[in-house]
Amino acid sequence: MTSMIPLLTEFEKEHIAERQALPEKYLGLSDAEMDVRIAAARQKLGNRLVILGHHYQRDEVIKFADYTGDSFRLARQVAARPDADYIVFCGVHFMAESADVLGAPHQQVILPDLAAGCSMADMVEPDQLENCWEELTQMGVASVVPVTYINSAASIKAFVGERGGTVCTSSNAAATLKWAFARGEKVLFLPDQHLGRNTAYKMGIALDEMVVWDPNEIFGGLDPDQVARARMILWNGHCSVHTRFSVRQIEAVRKQHPDVRVIVHPEVPWEVVQAADDSGSTEYIIKTVTNSPAGSVWAVGTEVHLVNRLANDLAPARTVLSLDRFGCLCSTMFRVSPNHLLWILEGLVEGRVHNRIVVPDDQKHWTRVALDRMLSIQ
Ligand code: 13P
Ligand code: SF4
Repeated sequence: MTSMIPLLTEFEKEHIAERQALPEKYLGLSDAEMDVRIAAARQKLGNRLVILGHHYQRDEVIKFADYTGDSFRLARQVAARPDADYIVFCGVHFMAESADVLGAPHQQVILPDLAAGCSMADMVEPDQLENCWEELTQMGVASVVPVTYINSAASIKAFVGERGGTVCTSSNAAATLKWAFARGEKVLFLPDQHLGRNTAYKMGIALDEMVVWDPNEIFGGLDPDQVARARMILWNGHCSVHTRFSVRQIEAVRKQHPDVRVIVHPEVPWEVVQAADDSGSTEYIIKTVTNSPAGSVWAVGTEVHLVNRLANDLAPARTVLSLDRFGCLCSTMFRVSPNHLLWILEGLVEGRVHNRIVVPDDQKHWTRVALDRMLSIQ
């Protein structure tokens, strides 16, 4: 089989060994044949199967999802289908891990391609977080609540849960920061510095009350005075897809379309959110653009599959453009193909489970605590 894998992230290098290769017979199938066989397998599996699809999935995959959504909505969806034995998560690894923790013991969660990771989630390692926590204590920081974005490994969520913190998503980040500041003077926000900064700034926290913790430097590269003054300690992580959006792109699209409204995901840099008209989770972006008056023109700063689908769904009444004219692709979300989905589903029909995601028992309890807190904060 020829490899179709371009650049490998750290996550992929780690998981590639345990990744079951897509069998040869699932390559080179026509779209029409895959559609028929996927539909047949779904029908055979009936209520024993639920397919969840994140908005960044390609059309050929998301059309088979029973439920689509942003990270928050999909996490909630897990509890809504206790009858399903198999949860096939068309998304990325951290989403499938969360589903495994939130699911019932009899439910098995499957990620169609194990190499579908998230480069941002890889930017925080458990030992780096332990060092950070220890160094904050040494610096005299006593009242700090850790908050991790759902885009992180279960081990990170467990760490945060055990220390009185929580998980957040892009749709409940502001409510989460309010929750955290009711419990401590400072928030350690990880791994996405941009979501942390954008959310805190929107709530009235000044930029000079935020510092960036660099896990590769001793004491995060900060001196104790800086940390003492800060209310937000932001981990030095980012999304390589969303940091491609720029103020220059917004200026260019405004010049070309004077009536355009610009909406971006809060993983983009702070200055991009300032130059845009609105920001929010993928679900929020879809709702806002869909509910806008006919004739509206939108430039959207998020993953290209979501943007293209929105453009097709809403044309010709509304015009939807990608803020980046080349379109920003999340290459790991893209790894989930209809070929993988077919292989997984036909395996299940034959009683074989490929690519199951299992969070280790020693991480499950505190990850569950952190995720339950997340689901209770809206
Ligand atoms: P949402 O929760 O807004 O769907 O975001 C998930 C994500 O990974 C964005 O890059
Ligand atoms: Fe991760 Fe960015 Fe892809 Fe979202 S878009 S899954 S944050 S790499």
